[in-house]
Amino acid sequence: MSKRNDNILTNFISASILSADLLNLESEVKKLERSGVDMLHFDVMDGVFVNNITFGIPVLDQISKIASSCMKLDVHLMITEPIKYIDEFYKAGADIITFHLESESDVMETIQAIKRTECHVGISIKPNTPAEAVFPYIEYADMILVMTVEPGFGGQKFMDMSEKIRKIREYADTNGHEELLIQVDGGIDDKTAVTVKTAGANVLVSGSYLFKAENMAEAVEKLKEDI
Ligand code: DX5
Ligand code: ZN
Repeated sequence: MSKRNDNILTNFISASILSADLLNLESEVKKLERSGVDMLHFDVMDGVFVNNITFGIPVLDQISKIASSCMKLDVHLMITEPIKYIDEFYKAGADIITFHLESESDVMETIQAIKRTECHVGISIKPNTPAEAVFPYIEYADMILVMTVEPGFGGQKFMDMSEKIRKIREYADTNGHEELLIQVDGGIDDKTAVTVKTAGANVLVSGSYLFKAENMAEAVEKLKEDI
């Protein structure tokens, strides 16, 4: 079996806290843990980079105290100047810090700032940003996040980014970065999961699908199913 297929078969599920019952965050986190999610996806929005404001460092700090270390804290920064806050998110418990290529911070400097912490480096691109825009940074990244909705809100309709995912997977594989994680975020459910995994994504963010499911563990299993 080729390395490429190995990548595709190793799927991680990152649950978006944005769709959780925020009044009962502790029990929601425990439920996610019992349901077998691999990561907690923490959407940070500043009302400038996107038209919404969510939560930030103090909330992550609290979550990190109750979340088991089996679940990685996967921080998605939808903010204008991510470089300013890298150290604080690291201190609050982040394991992966993903910033947007379209932000105003210098890309290489932000990568270096994340690398100086013990966090993994994620770089995200919005639906209108081409795959080629991230190619120069793939050698420095642990994960590329391909947005499958316009960032800003949970519960939006999935946009098919298969071509973009394929190009990134192919570039990574042919340049010695087979271990690169490709994450997708927005509108992921049991059906769209098949589409993105077929294209080469291996970290699936899911918010509304998981939290609306009658049986969350079964929903996680469905997302993880081999293709
Ligand atoms: C959108 C966020 C997503 C969102 C996903 O800007 O980055 O993480 O919460 O939610 P669903 O799965 O409901 O599309
Ligand atoms: Zn997100």
